[in-house]
Amino acid sequence: MAINYAERIPNNVNLSDDRRLQRALESWQPKFLEWWNEMGPDGFQASDVYLRTAISVDAKGWANFGYVKMPEYRWGIFLTQADPNRKIAFGEHKGQPAWQEVPGEHRGILRRLIVTQGDTEPASVEQQRHLGRTCPSLYDLRNLFQVNVEEGRHLWAMVYLLHAYFGRDGREEAEGLLRRRSGQADNPRILGAFNERTPDWLSFFMFAHFTDRDGKYQLASLAESGFDPLSRTCRFMLTEEAHHLFVGEAGVGRVIARSCELMKQHKTERIGEYGGIDLEIVQKYLNFHYSVSLDLFGSELSTNAANYFSAGLKGRYKEEDLEDDHLLSANSYRILKPSHGKIVTSEEPALTALNEALRDAYIADCERALARWNRIIQDSGLDFRLALPHRGFHRAIGEFRGLHVTPQGQIVSEPEWRARKADWLPSDADRELVASLMKPVTAPGKFASWIAPPARGINLQPVEMEYVRNLPAN
Ligand SMILES: [Fe+2]
Ligand SMILES: [Fe+2]
Repeated sequence: MAINYAERIPNNVNLSDDRRLQRALESWQPKFLEWWNEMGPDGFQASDVYLRTAISVDAKGWANFGYVKMPEYRWGIFLTQADPNRKIAFGEHKGQPAWQEVPGEHRGILRRLIVTQGDTEPASVEQQRHLGRTCPSLYDLRNLFQVNVEEGRHLWAMVYLLHAYFGRDGREEAEGLLRRRSGQADNPRILGAFNERTPDWLSFFMFAHFTDRDGKYQLASLAESGFDPLSRTCRFMLTEEAHHLFVGEAGVGRVIARSCELMKQHKTERIGEYGGIDLEIVQKYLNFHYSVSLDLFGSELSTNAANYFSAGLKGRYKEEDLEDDHLLSANSYRILKPSHGKIVTSEEPALTALNEALRDAYIADCERALARWNRIIQDSGLDFRLALPHRGFHRAIGEFRGLHVTPQGQIVSEPEWRARKADWLPSDADRELVASLMKPVTAPGKFASWIAPPARGINLQPVEMEYVRNLPAN
């Protein structure tokens, strides 16, 4: 499955065999670049960045590393290899051959799923566009830009499907993906978390950890789709996504490591004046990003989710590893929900509780990463521990919406919530403290005061390599 880089749009889908599609995508390409130049990384479009580019879609050795100016990045269309015998693994069409064309009766839903996923990709680039100006190191700057160009490629992945399989309305949706803007009141991005600001690097690392991880679970369940082109494009996106999660988890881990170092050195938990970020503030950022990311999974009980599943459009996480009938006609699933001022468990039809099942898989993944962060604190001999807040905390979607739930899972009154909110979520003062630390560090091998260096560099290169060259003058 070699990728053809000789064409204007790199691809491994034999794009040149379909002139109409090729022309349509070639006319979308300059609009994408216009969007990238307007909304992509601010100030660094002329810099040379040590980036990886896909050269094949095999699990091993797909990446090629070299210095690239971001607008010259070879965004393209890469699908994992087709399995000619692939069968639909769940739902009413279970056992039938996977669809190579859009099933007519599910066209509208499928398009909506693709647009919703596609919309998150440019949104995060927009959210992160000012971060380069305050990078803690060239190593981190490069990682930010790697994530950004790959999110741009994920947009390509979804736009390809819209153009190739959805005719005129697909083309219109592809234009819409370039028109919406993160956080813009009159034309916002579709999902809430993608309209939040990413004002500082702690937010960025938390976003890459928690919100990109939602992306991993959404992509993994779309990778199960009976619509084979969607499945194959999501499978390749997942290999790119793994790096984003690494950037997030390792980034937060390095902040924690540095905070521990400063706490021990100065024998205090208040390390702001020594150039560090208090672990208490790290916890509040975690609470924020975790809770807005939980919302992305949707309502605990959802007939939409049930319909997507039964129709064979969106499966469960690792569907084929699950041992049941893959129809869920008689299964139940336990969820948490509020009832008369308390949070209780409730048995619900598994089919309508699919969002919650996916959220549970996500939460378990977050718990494992949390344990690795706490290990860093433990190993430095400190007693502080980070925790994931209760799933009902600070939720805007689903059963807990409109309630005030503490991180420990108690439902409290609104006045009590307001009185204690600043203990649980970043206050203006916390954000100001973090913002005050965001001074750019751009000497190779040097790191800002609030973050530890990484254990190793990118692609076996030294940590002190000049990962980004030709920086803007100020
Ligand atoms: Fe993405
Ligand atoms: Fe991502």
